[in-house]
Amino acid sequence: MTDLLADLDGLRSLARERLAEASSAREVDAIRQELLGRSGRLTALLKQLGSVPADQRPALGQAANGARLEIETAIADQLAKLNAGDLGARLAEEAIDMSAPGRPLRTGHLHPVLTTMRDLREIFHAYGFEVFEGPEIETEEYNFELLNIPPDHPARDLWDTLYVAEPGSVEAGQPRPATDGTILRAHTSPTQIRAMRALEPPIRVLTPGRCFRYEAVDASHGFEFFQIEGLVVDRDTSLADLKGMLEEVARALYGRDVKTRFRPGYYPFTEPSVAFDIGCLVCGGVGCPACKRSGWMTILGAGMVHPTVLRNGGFDPDDFQGYAFGMGPDRMTMLRHGIGDIRLFFSADLRFLGQFAEGR
Ligand code: DAH
Repeated sequence: MTDLLADLDGLRSLARERLAEASSAREVDAIRQELLGRSGRLTALLKQLGSVPADQRPALGQAANGARLEIETAIADQLAKLNAGDLGARLAEEAIDMSAPGRPLRTGHLHPVLTTMRDLREIFHAYGFEVFEGPEIETEEYNFELLNIPPDHPARDLWDTLYVAEPGSVEAGQPRPATDGTILRAHTSPTQIRAMRALEPPIRVLTPGRCFRYEAVDASHGFEFFQIEGLVVDRDTSLADLKGMLEEVARALYGRDVKTRFRPGYYPFTEPSVAFDIGCLVCGGVGCPACKRSGWMTILGAGMVHPTVLRNGGFDPDDFQGYAFGMGPDRMTMLRHGIGDIRLFFSADLRFLGQFAEGR
């Protein structure tokens, strides 16, 4: 009996020693197998119980159970300790230094001209206009003829056109214009014809897009620029509608106090034609270099759609009228922000563009 009791004690202290040295859950498990497993040491000791006198058995059995319990508790304790240690080590290893300064994120923003174009689209949307786009590569027919500008018309000089070369036609460095009249559109007006031919009346469309001209580039001219064309075709629309709407548009874009005026103008595709001016935003109308001392700045051309153009679009001018207008968002943006040179828009200079990060 004393032998067995001593053996149980030995087992307890062996368990304590071994567990204290165990450095992983795996090792603890191996110890559990060795001491408490089916062919483990405790089982081996219990097998000897049979040879112990009957009156001593209960006390020894109790002692054995006590030992098992104690070892199991020690195993659980050691596992808990190892887990906590593992977690602590991982936390230390994966720690994030929250005090480190972040890397600045550079966010992009719209180009100021695009912001103006978006604003105009919003403003005109309130008047029921939808966007209708046309191709940048056009034909002379759409760019000129169908807009009532025949080939020999002197007004062609108003649009210095870039011709697409006939493939393989370059001789001594000189290309020949394509015989099918393919050009880069010199204005967005050709979409008037395309919209009339594609849509049912009443038509209210806005055509934003890029235009191209053979221009010497200077502070107020680019060879590539934006226009926004507007077209309305309906049974009873008038110059008064056009005037009222454009005045509201100018106020929405430049503020309630903006001064406006209409002047007679000339375009072959409108009759009558007008030019729409706003009071100079730089000098307030007194006269300054920006407005060439006139106190006014022209922001668009407009007019009632010429009967010939209506007919070319498929409408009978006795039944339908229309008005049209063409705006220059580059110039309108320059006026908005007091930008003195159109070339800045295409300069890709972040010092310039970054000033419009707020969107306007
Ligand atoms: N297409 C003209 C230009 O490029 C601008 C323009 C004037 C458009 C009058 C129009 C208009 O629709 O009615 O100079």
